[in-house]
Amino acid sequence: MLHDPNRVYVFDTTLRDGEQVPGCQLTTPEKIEIAKELELLGVDIIEAGFPVSSPGDFNSVVEISKAVKEPTVCALTRANKGDIDAAIESLKYAKRPRIHTGIGSSDMHIKHKFNSTREEILERAVEAVKYAKRAVEDIEFYAEDAGRADVEYLAKMVEAVIAAGATVVNIPDTNGYCLPDQYGSKIKFLKENVKNIDKAIISVHCHNDLGLATANSIAGLQNGARQIEGTINGIGERAGNTSIEEVVMILKTHQVLGLHTQIDSKRFYELSQMIRTQMRMPVQPNKAIVGANAFAHSSGIHQDGFLKMRENYEIIRPEDVGFPSASIVLTARSGRHALKFHLERLGINLSKEELAEAYNNFLTLADVKLDINDHDLLSLVAHKLVKN
Ligand code: KIV
Ligand code: ZN
Repeated sequence: MLHDPNRVYVFDTTLRDGEQVPGCQLTTPEKIEIAKELELLGVDIIEAGFPVSSPGDFNSVVEISKAVKEPTVCALTRANKGDIDAAIESLKYAKRPRIHTGIGSSDMHIKHKFNSTREEILERAVEAVKYAKRAVEDIEFYAEDAGRADVEYLAKMVEAVIAAGATVVNIPDTNGYCLPDQYGSKIKFLKENVKNIDKAIISVHCHNDLGLATANSIAGLQNGARQIEGTINGIGERAGNTSIEEVVMILKTHQVLGLHTQIDSKRFYELSQMIRTQMRMPVQPNKAIVGANAFAHSSGIHQDGFLKMRENYEIIRPEDVGFPSASIVLTARSGRHALKFHLERLGINLSKEELAEAYNNFLTLADVKLDINDHDLLSLVAHKLVKN
């Protein structure tokens, strides 16, 4: 089969980087349920856990490996034999196993986390990949804190781990430090300067400390990365990871980028709700794609434009992400057009004069009551209904 150069692989780490968030811990049955939904969503890789971290996490990787058929199941390790042995063992039932091993690549991590040297770290990286490769063919290497790493050293590390057998090289912006053009340039540099780079897929793994995770991931893809790592709802360490739903919808909306995934985006909303409930982590109402207000129109100007033609204020159709429907929210900023729309929805047709009167009464009410519901609307026009 010919490799499609424009295909972007989606690597979901909701059950690993997402599950690390305090309060978001899941039981194995909950993880299996989510993994099956991720399979239906069409993710290519599920990072199922960090097996050496606890017996529960080990068991989750085992059970997820049994439960899903299509996606690759991936287990995280540090660059040491004990971690890698645990990962190998946990993946024994996986149809498509992957080991995700790695080590720090920035001088900050090399000196102050590992108390080591660039040379020693490079050796450990290569050893880890070789060790994992004895048992599993598909090896992803992460160069932790690559966002702050010296790019020449990073290129050396990437070249060495590919030569040792890595099939995917993950370039994480672990601390969410980079600007999009810096991150994009880093990926471009690797693409242009690592001589065996065509033997591996470059993966982007971005954190959201400065609110740039999605922008950085897109910059990475524009510069040659072909795997994106993220979570549903963007949950993850600190300010979170890249939101998978955002990246997928950006690629769909901006077809000019020429990139595509195999994600069934109609499943996003339901899965987002499931993750929110199971992980007890609310979704902010203004969250792109899946937030409660993502398709709610509330100002008069927007409502009028939307009611004339939805595309005036809608760049994604709610049904494309499984969102129940767009909504016209009635507030003191709403216009006559929105009020008319809601009254007609309730079967009430008013003349121009009647609507003007109802609108004045509506504004008086909306200034004091934040949430105008159908019952309020019926009360506003009750006298008309009796007369007619
Ligand atoms: O953010 C990070 O660097 C990670 C690695 C373990 C891939 O999560
Ligand atoms: Zn991470």
